[in-house]
Amino acid sequence: AEELQGRHFLTLADFSQDELTSLLAFAKDLKQWQKQGKPYRPLVGKTLGMIFAKSSTRTRVSFEVGMFQLGGHALFLGKNDIQLGRGETIPDTARVLSRYVDGIMIRTYAHTDVVELARYASVPVINGLTDAFHPCQVLADLLTLKEHFGQLKGLKLAYVGDGNNMAHSLLLGAAKMGIHVAVATPSGYEPDGDIVRDSEQAARENGSRVTVTHDPHEAVKGADAVYTDVWASMGQEAEASERRKAFQGYQVNGELMAEAKDGAIFLHCLPAHRGEEVTADVIDGPQSVVVNQAENRLHVQKAILASLL
Ligand code: CP
Ligand code: NVA
Repeated sequence: AEELQGRHFLTLADFSQDELTSLLAFAKDLKQWQKQGKPYRPLVGKTLGMIFAKSSTRTRVSFEVGMFQLGGHALFLGKNDIQLGRGETIPDTARVLSRYVDGIMIRTYAHTDVVELARYASVPVINGLTDAFHPCQVLADLLTLKEHFGQLKGLKLAYVGDGNNMAHSLLLGAAKMGIHVAVATPSGYEPDGDIVRDSEQAARENGSRVTVTHDPHEAVKGADAVYTDVWASMGQEAEASERRKAFQGYQVNGELMAEAKDGAIFLHCLPAHRGEEVTADVIDGPQSVVVNQAENRLHVQKAILASLL
């Protein structure tokens, strides 16, 4: 995908359906080549800087392994190990890192910080999760859905839980790919209104439907895929017990899964809390594709890296 060279990857809203489709096709090829042991090293001599202000297992490992497999190198930059954690500004960090590395991946809190980093960086910036979005995860989820169902258009995805970064990126990504998407949250935990409006606009353009409700039963009815995420995200640890109360009735368990379509699959970006947002029998059962989702992070991010860098 040469037309993506030099672009940032901040939210799925910035990409057309065609661009996302070609990234998914590229990821599929990269996955096959890796399984066949066929080397593909377009990034020899290139380096990715990875800034982390939050914990990570999947994002950190899949980006670092992905860069290595593409022939390049990745640097782990914990926020408190670099001067950013001591008050060096985002513009200075962006301008200086851009003289050393060929791309920057960042995981942090405020999405506006990532936008600011991208504004001052002269190399591509990739969003590895903010409080508002998690686009790399949703690209991996789209690949997982495509592998399972063969095509995306016309599927129905239900998301039950917190109107958080995952809900936002799923709304945008699904609507854009022609997937009907229903989000059910407790009252007070709805997805951001502007993002819902952007998703509705994308849905109108791509023949899909967006539903935002407080009723998990309505959301999962007729769903091909049921998705959930933690009730307290990174940074919300202090609200965990209050949220546990507010989210009663929003657990994805066997009963709720039974209201989805026959053959429906269960998705979760991980990490998960068994007994809270999902029961162990669902996440560890035959409908669950969560480990495939995690694996697909590697393949889609290699597609992003090889296209942008
Ligand atoms: N799903 C995901 O981004 O996992 P990590 O927090 O482990 O990177
Ligand atoms: N909503 C979760 C996703 C983790 C991958 C969080 O932000 O902590």
